[in-house]
Amino acid sequence: MDKQIIDEAIEYVKKVFEQDYSGHDFFHTLRVYKMAATIAKQESADMTIVQLAALLHDVDDHKLSPETYANKDKAVDFLRKHNVPQKTIKTICDIIDAVSFMGVDSVVPKSIEGKCVQDADRLDAIGAIGIARAFTYGGNHNRAIYNPDIPFQEKMTKEEYQNNISTTINHFYEKLFQLSERMNTDTAKAIAKERDSYMRAYISEFLAEWEGIR
Ligand code: ADP
Ligand code: NI
Repeated sequence: MDKQIIDEAIEYVKKVFEQDYSGHDFFHTLRVYKMAATIAKQESADMTIVQLAALLHDVDDHKLSPETYANKDKAVDFLRKHNVPQKTIKTICDIIDAVSFMGVDSVVPKSIEGKCVQDADRLDAIGAIGIARAFTYGGNHNRAIYNPDIPFQEKMTKEEYQNNISTTINHFYEKLFQLSERMNTDTAKAIAKERDSYMRAYISEFLAEWEGIR
């Protein structure tokens, strides 16, 4: 397991996400892969595990691929085809399971490798890129940019979070503003702090413009 499988995984995810511009595109995966590797280096985590889990973390996403979500068929098939040992496949699948944000039902990954991947995925949801992804997602799902009559709900269960129909501005309160406090590694905490204040400044400007204050 080395550079060749990583290169092939990059090619594989490029194909999987070819048609997707909903915020889960190939470049999201590529950014998570690069950021996860940067964090993994600082944290002395197993680099190959981190890279493969990062590259495969969204291929069986419940929104994009509901039919393969439960068993992670795409990730498992890819790893099997590349003769990755069963034990390592299990490790990677456990990381993918733990990565996603599920409101109050979110979990902290047990391994340092999982922590690196979760941090990288969450970092990509905040800051300048996070803002762009949120509005792209909102547009794609026919959501209003903002509606002051719809209150946000900060603490949701997995079920509530996944079925929630709200506005994109509410998503900042429902998820994005909560992420910087939930980073696992010191490396990610430092990056998240900057991105979080950038995002908060953006939202206060947005709300001031909305009210005609400036
Ligand atoms: P990931 O695990 O890759 O962050 P998600 O499916 O949770 O994937 O979200 C993909 C992107 O869309 C993220 O940037 C996320 O913040 C954004 N997003 C998810 N749900 C909403 C929503 N209800 N409104 C606006 N943006 C959303
Ligand atoms: Ni992701």
